[in-house]
Amino acid sequence: MKIIHAKSYEDLSCEAANIISAQITQKSNSVFGFATGSTPIGTYEQLVQRYKKGELDFSGITAVNLDEYVGLSEDHEQSYRYFMNTRLYDHINIDKSHTFVPIGTAQDIDNECLRYEELINSLGGIDLQLLGIGHNGHIGFNEPNTCFSTTTHCVKLKDTTIKANSRFFASEAQVPTHAITMGIKTIMQAKKILLIASGAEKADIMQKTLYGPVMPSVPASILQMHPDLTVVAFDCI
Ligand code: PGA
Repeated sequence: MKIIHAKSYEDLSCEAANIISAQITQKSNSVFGFATGSTPIGTYEQLVQRYKKGELDFSGITAVNLDEYVGLSEDHEQSYRYFMNTRLYDHINIDKSHTFVPIGTAQDIDNECLRYEELINSLGGIDLQLLGIGHNGHIGFNEPNTCFSTTTHCVKLKDTTIKANSRFFASEAQVPTHAITMGIKTIMQAKKILLIASGAEKADIMQKTLYGPVMPSVPASILQMHPDLTVVAFDCI
């Protein structure tokens, strides 16, 4: 495990963007696993800025996202597809047909989970997976006590996650109750993982994640076992 101690949130965003940029430079047709949430916003802003300066070419890459709410359409402002389009894809030269997010409005959600897992496999797996971390140690929507061997699946969200995410919706009642998420096994199969975390309120979960026992009650703790994990942290390690 490699740990980078960022000096500020901006520094964290630069460091994470450096690692993503290096991956594109090394392999222009890389498959990225991208994440939503507040932590990666600065990283995506950095990538857009670098693209606008002519420093980065996204035309060869493919991107798969970690998760999506069940029931939200692609144009819903809180859908993760909408987040990715507006925060990143609309501003860079990525081929949109090479960007994938689970389809939250699929008729058959179980089938959509299988399709998504097969899609990732058919792409040859993920070269670099970007991850945030929830206060309860979730990665993607893999909540505490998710079996480590899960592949892409549908989850019922914990009340704490619904509460945490309600800040983005008009009311808590509007937060979807289920989501499709890559499983822990799907995430662990990525060749490289980049975990970003910012803020003192994540210190306790980061301590448990990086130095505590590896156990399903702290889903992110399995990252200790990954052979190529980089952590970029500000104010929480
Ligand atoms: P955050 O969310 O980046 O908004 O803190 C991370 C997560 O819940 O995975």
